[in-house]
Amino acid sequence: MIAVVGSLNLDLVAPVPHHPVPGETVLGGDIAQHPGGKGANQAVAAARLGGEVAFVGRVGDDDAADLLVDAAREQGVDTTHILRTPRVPTGRALIAVNPAGENSIIVSPGANSRLTAADCEAAADRLAAAKVTVLQQEVPDAANHAAARLAGGLVLYNPAPAVEGAVPPPRVDLLVPNRTELAALTGTPEAETVDDITAAARKLTGAGAVVVTLGGDGVLLLEGTARLHIPAFAVTPTDTTGAGDSFCGALAVALAEGRTLEQAARWACAAAAISTTRTGAQPSSPGRDEVEAFLAARS
Ligand code: RIB
Repeated sequence: MIAVVGSLNLDLVAPVPHHPVPGETVLGGDIAQHPGGKGANQAVAAARLGGEVAFVGRVGDDDAADLLVDAAREQGVDTTHILRTPRVPTGRALIAVNPAGENSIIVSPGANSRLTAADCEAAADRLAAAKVTVLQQEVPDAANHAAARLAGGLVLYNPAPAVEGAVPPPRVDLLVPNRTELAALTGTPEAETVDDITAAARKLTGAGAVVVTLGGDGVLLLEGTARLHIPAFAVTPTDTTGAGDSFCGALAVALAEGRTLEQAARWACAAAAISTTRTGAQPSSPGRDEVEAFLAARS
């Protein structure tokens, strides 16, 4: 079983010719609405790939709450521990996507910011039983710290989005940052080369292994003194929103199934690549058969 503790957002997505600069208004295309939130995206990604997934999170008491909980349940996620917060809006994300598939996102956390350590303690049985517990940074540190403390298996921490002042849980077995998040964690400028990324990641102590996601450049695995660069699969991206979430969900499934970190990361790269070829975060994450067919076509 996989436990995911994290956010649920209603994503409002607008295609834009380019991302606006401060003071600029950009006329975009028709808006689309999708279930999202890094936590929910990772939970759904894992469930679509065959994982048994329990989710811990908070929604408000509005229409968006029902939509998000129903969407997760319909994908097979155990939503027992998604709690409702009265008189608080459900989390929302305003997402702009340019023609290259690059996004910019404003998250209004709403009920996600009300998730507590006690909420995680209420799900202690799920967290204790999970082979992998997956955490991100769209809920308060206190909730993440409690979840890591209660986790019976591997703790996978995706420090996304980069949040100034966020404190990673004291116990992290696998840290999965992108370049920006790595820079935020280490207090260093964004590293470009594999050597600079390695040097920055090695400044991080306390994580058993680090997997740095590099978008179109693949991923970098660092375990002790070992380092492995896995290139990305070549695809033409339509919308990269949620690719990191597909990666984390797939990584959790593969690790829970007992694959090595290298095997798991390659499989997760395939899931992330497929997700970039479709629009939306949660709707774009692939099923297991799709990932296997994608890999078979490239072997
Ligand atoms: O990672 C993509 C997600 O970031 C979106 O679904 C949005 O809700 C934000 O949380």
